Amino acid sequence: MSQLHWSNDLDTGIVVIDKQHRRIVDYINELSAAHDKGDASVTSHVLNELVEYTLSHFSFEEELQEKANYPFLKAHKRVHEIFTRRVAEMQKRAANGEDVTDEVLSMLKIWLINHIKGDDADYVQSVKNTPGLEEPEEKSGSWLGNSLKKFFR
Ligand SMILES: [Fe+2]
Repeated sequence: MSQLHWSNDLDTGIVVIDKQHRRIVDYINELSAAHDKGDASVTSHVLNELVEYTLSHFSFEEELQEKANYPFLKAHKRVHEIFTRRVAEMQKRAANGEDVTDEVLSMLKIWLINHIKGDDADYVQSVKNTPGLEEPEEKSGSWLGNSLKKFFR
């Protein structure tokens, strides 16, 4: 499958969020390359990392939206939940030996890109308008661990 290229219209304007989104795109490309090579063990390893990273990114976003009192937080969370459930179903099938990579990749490429351009672009102004939150940061490298703990509690 073809590689995804970052285009500037995917930038939300929040540096840390754009960094995380770019990392997700990198993972998508890594997954795509591993799958093209037919390397099943690397493919499943990257798939798991991609899913884990994406889920903690969602938690990070939701925390940010909470702090910003984003009025559509509930709806945004709901979209993340639906996506998470679909991914969990695919992972279950992968665990049963099915090759779900193409499905995961096409879902990610279409869904995630639309989500970044639409839903994510929508909460940026709320964050920017919140005093002290204009340029949020990942907490000294621990955000991933914290978000994961929160997510899998
Ligand atoms: Fe989002």
